[in-house]
Amino acid sequence: MAVSGTTKGPEVLVEIDRNRPEPLHRQLTDGLRGAIRAGRLAPHARMPSSRVLAADLGVSRRLVVDAYAQLVAEGFLLSQHGSGTRVASLYLTEAPAAADVTTSASYDVDFTPGCPDLANFPRNAWLRALRQGLATTPSDVFGYVAPQGQAAFREALSGYLRRTRGVLAEPDQIVVCGGVTQGIALSAQVLRKLGGLPIAIEDPAFWFHRIALRHSGIDAVPIEVDEDGLVVDLLADSEARAALITPAHQSPTGVVMSPARRAAMLEWAHAGNYIIEDDYDAEYRYDRAPVGAMQALAPDRVIYLGTTSKVLAPALRLGWMVLPADLVSLAVRYKMAADLGTSIMDQIAFGQLLASGDYDRHLRQMRRRYTSRRNAMLKGLSRFLPHATVLGAAAGVQLAVHFPVGYPIDDLVRRAFELGVKVEALQPWYADRSSGPPGLILGFADVSESQILRGIQILGQAANGLG
Ligand SMILES: Cc1ncc(COP(=O)(O)O)c(C=O)c1O
Repeated sequence: MAVSGTTKGPEVLVEIDRNRPEPLHRQLTDGLRGAIRAGRLAPHARMPSSRVLAADLGVSRRLVVDAYAQLVAEGFLLSQHGSGTRVASLYLTEAPAAADVTTSASYDVDFTPGCPDLANFPRNAWLRALRQGLATTPSDVFGYVAPQGQAAFREALSGYLRRTRGVLAEPDQIVVCGGVTQGIALSAQVLRKLGGLPIAIEDPAFWFHRIALRHSGIDAVPIEVDEDGLVVDLLADSEARAALITPAHQSPTGVVMSPARRAAMLEWAHAGNYIIEDDYDAEYRYDRAPVGAMQALAPDRVIYLGTTSKVLAPALRLGWMVLPADLVSLAVRYKMAADLGTSIMDQIAFGQLLASGDYDRHLRQMRRRYTSRRNAMLKGLSRFLPHATVLGAAAGVQLAVHFPVGYPIDDLVRRAFELGVKVEALQPWYADRSSGPPGLILGFADVSESQILRGIQILGQAANGLG
């Protein structure tokens, strides 16, 4: 299914589902007509260009041109030379009141980082996978039997992780869990039991991971990240016995850990320490070769964590740990004490999605889409915020931008919000907020190209006169 503009903005709201029997051109014209009737496309609103809408929906431009022509003929759209295509005012009475529009959504474009394209969760493929998986799953699997995760699913996951990330994961070394977040909490419990504390964390790091560790009673030791990744010399000088790192795509700077640092990190681990490898968005690479997981180089010292949050949906809460063999039973015990195991239904569906090839297809489609969105963001940034330096754009679902020292970033965030654009400042990602450079972290995967360009343009306006 492809949906345009459902991310947050009201601009265009159309669903295209290749699995439905109606032809695509019917779905598109019906969808646009319905959006105009319901007032989701307001009278006089400018329609995106056929090229932009086609790219957003993943359909041919011809299809969009034909749909626009049909709706012009029906009087729903107006095509005026020089000012593009606009919604006709005929349906003014059905449009929402202006007050509703301004109060129902306090912002138009949401650049909150961390989300994949939620409107494109593969609903049909997921339902098909669940139906197929359930048809062959024996009933005894539905009991209180698998805190470690369903055996068949761990088998499928083992093959997938080996194939795509080079992870050496025997099925019995895998513990299925509720995303990376639970993986971190369980790792913390295991390490505490083994004397693997304190735990170091990258600085900057995803701010929520500091909170998650604190919630487990651990005050993580912040270790600086530079342009080669975590500064391992500082780690070695610290008291830390374990380190939570994002070597394939540092969060939030986007740095790929250099070969020399990887080697130093492995040496540190082999000296009796543990690495918690957070491989949260490894699936998305735009203009460089994938970087293999570190786990394969030290499977007895690395707890590897993965998730479906960036490829499918964060709300699934489905992830996995791959543990050194001697840590597995402890992790399973803590997992069992936490919740008796992750939903078997989700494991059945996801396992089947992997086996059928639908997951790979979804990933390829999303990779193309995010590349276009990433490119739109880079284009917008260079045009409307030329004094910002972009970091970490080669991978993932978000990128970071730095502004010159002393730039009033909080004012920019506030002004942008007042103009309808939500952005997050980078400083909270630093252990000491005041030590972080002025910057933003911008999600681009859950925002259409036209919204990205509009949002960055508004951000440019908000920046006017600030620095
Ligand atoms: C660095 C990092 N790791 C992991 C995750 C995903 O966590 P989870 O799998 O719990 O959704 C995120 C989500 O934003 C993240 O930023």
